Amino acid sequence: MQLFKTKSVDILTSEAEGGGQRLARVLGTFDVTMVGIGAIIGAGIFAMVGEAAVKGNAGPSLVISLLITAAACGFCALCYAELAAMVPVAGSAYTYAYATMGELVAWIIGWDLILEYAIGNVAVAISWSGYFNDFLKSITGLDVPVWLRLDYHTFIARGYDIASVPHIFGLPVVVNLLSVTVTAVLTWLLVTGIKETTRFNSLMVGIKLLVLAVFVAFGFYYFNPSNWTPFAPGGWTGIQAGAAYIFFAYIGFDAVSTVAEETKDPKRDMPRGIIGSLIICTVIYVLVAVVLTGMMPFGELKNKIAEPLVAGLEYNHAARWLIALVSVGAVVATTAVLLVFQMGQPRIFFSMSRDGLLPKYFAKVHPVHRTPHVTTIWTGVFVALFSAFFSLDVMAELCNIGTLFAFILVCAGVIILRVREPGRARPFRAPGGLFTPLAGIAFCLYLILGLEFMTWMRFVIWLAAGLLIYFMYGYRNSRLRAPAGTI
Ligand code: ALA
Repeated sequence: MQLFKTKSVDILTSEAEGGGQRLARVLGTFDVTMVGIGAIIGAGIFAMVGEAAVKGNAGPSLVISLLITAAACGFCALCYAELAAMVPVAGSAYTYAYATMGELVAWIIGWDLILEYAIGNVAVAISWSGYFNDFLKSITGLDVPVWLRLDYHTFIARGYDIASVPHIFGLPVVVNLLSVTVTAVLTWLLVTGIKETTRFNSLMVGIKLLVLAVFVAFGFYYFNPSNWTPFAPGGWTGIQAGAAYIFFAYIGFDAVSTVAEETKDPKRDMPRGIIGSLIICTVIYVLVAVVLTGMMPFGELKNKIAEPLVAGLEYNHAARWLIALVSVGAVVATTAVLLVFQMGQPRIFFSMSRDGLLPKYFAKVHPVHRTPHVTTIWTGVFVALFSAFFSLDVMAELCNIGTLFAFILVCAGVIILRVREPGRARPFRAPGGLFTPLAGIAFCLYLILGLEFMTWMRFVIWLAAGLLIYFMYGYRNSRLRAPAGTI
């Protein structure tokens, strides 16, 4: 029973308010909505949308896939909003699980969130390096050597000659140095302060929205209705496959909840930021998909699958500046995603450490900048190392399964708190009674079932490793279960 001991909502909120481990409350509605959009629009719409349209033959019906995934995320976003307004503490889903399902589940979800934030960021950093190289090449003519911007596995898979790369002690050197560099720079920025970080984020969000707006405008100009027949070449199966794949593009609205402790009025701003950013991004995604699939026969996407938006413009012989603009938009968009996820992960570690499930060392707050600098730096090191050596597809799918699992537990948390504490004040209540969290769970399970078997296996191994660590450290050091007066 000890393992299922919960931490009351009152204790959680009061802990966040007191002591030297307090974060600075500086963010408003606008900032947190920008954090959401910053985290959502990135590699998904700029890169993976091509694969989603082609995979399972979704074609133009990708528009429907996007709406299905938006509905799934919508139910989950309402649940996140309810909990984030009720328990405005830095740990997001981890904290909600601590309050509802107890310490063991909280640990599991905290461990699982590493898949969403850190591993998701590994995927985005890898995608960033590809776009950045294109951008660099288009303006300076400089092409970074392939062995410095790919991992070993992808290098081989793309048919490059391993004998052509430098060798150290007989071992070939293939390392994604570009993604390591961007991670290092962003980590430094995050250590220096959250207000500076969110300002930089708002600027990047402005740029990516502008670029997508320009793309949509030209897309309508190039739109040819005949490209929409057949509308759904793969039928429902195609639509489903597209939905499961494009889920990655929506991940991020939940990241808003990780800055709850740094928000001036979280009860009001959390629901607005979470739901607002999801709605804005859904509208943009649908518009982009409508014009993209109307600009060219979707089969043409196969030739340039990692850069679908550029493919659409090139098919219509668009001006060079327009193509360069879209590349810039992609670099900026993925940088913003990296920044927000890189900000979310340390705040979850921070909460876990404050609870004693990770060593106290991780809960240190920087004496001048008041940021969780220790966890920020460790997250940077982890993401940089993984992005140097792992491939995009494996990382993206791991991120998807980890996030879907977290979403399920958040929806379950809403149900449990509604039953256990029906009278507690809810500054925001997800409408529709228990239907909303139940629908959220059903949608997420449906998407999880669409993922590959290997992804399931990797997920199980990851959770098993997490349990081992919990029983070796967290179980013995938990503050919640420590006898009174010992900590
Ligand atoms: N939604 C984020 C992206 O598409 C993870 O990059």
